[in-house]
Amino acid sequence: MIDETLINNAKSLADLEDLIAKCERCLLYKTKTKDVPGIGNEHAEVMFIGEAPGKDEDLQGEPFVGAAGKFLTEMIEDLGWKRSDVYIANVLKHRPPNNRDPEPSEADACWPYLKRQIEIISPKLIVFLGRHSMARFFPTLQISKVHGQAFRKEFLGKSQVFLALYHPAAALYNGGMRDTLKNDFQKIPKILDKIDEITASKPSEKATTPTNTEQIKQEKLF
Ligand code: URA
Repeated sequence: MIDETLINNAKSLADLEDLIAKCERCLLYKTKTKDVPGIGNEHAEVMFIGEAPGKDEDLQGEPFVGAAGKFLTEMIEDLGWKRSDVYIANVLKHRPPNNRDPEPSEADACWPYLKRQIEIISPKLIVFLGRHSMARFFPTLQISKVHGQAFRKEFLGKSQVFLALYHPAAALYNGGMRDTLKNDFQKIPKILDKIDEITASKPSEKATTPTNTEQIKQEKLF
């Protein structure tokens, strides 16, 4: 059994990938084709987090490679970046059969992997793709109210900036939501600049000593 201590002791994303490949913490390993741990730059400034792999992702072993993924890639490239400049992951590392919603127990089983990925990458900005991934972190927030507005909270022992966006799959065929998502997406570089400015002027906003990792102490609009 892969327990949380083993996951917390992973030193690199490659270590985590090895654990995910052997994972039986929930039953999704029985129906998966490939593992979908996440992809991108271990030192990325921006980490995108979606909900769960779909059919294409399960077949290719890479997050966001289907229609929603193409749209996400297009928006990343519109910023002048490549997919390999950022890190892309999901709350779940294995596909729920027939794209059903993840069970809470499956998301709980996968949660230590995501937390460790975040600790290793230590992104400046975490971007939620859709309300399900945001709800895993902040169950009381409503995406219709907070989308496109960066906010800062204490998470995993550091002052972390988050941004919630509508899910590319939801926005793909909804003109209004598509425009909103594209508009929100364009704010990312400015948010990164702002984080740099604040970090330079307030050293206390930098990462601090780890505290209880489950604790989210501070809610401050950014
Ligand atoms: N939707 C997600 O949330 N994740 C993927 O990887 C693909 C589609």
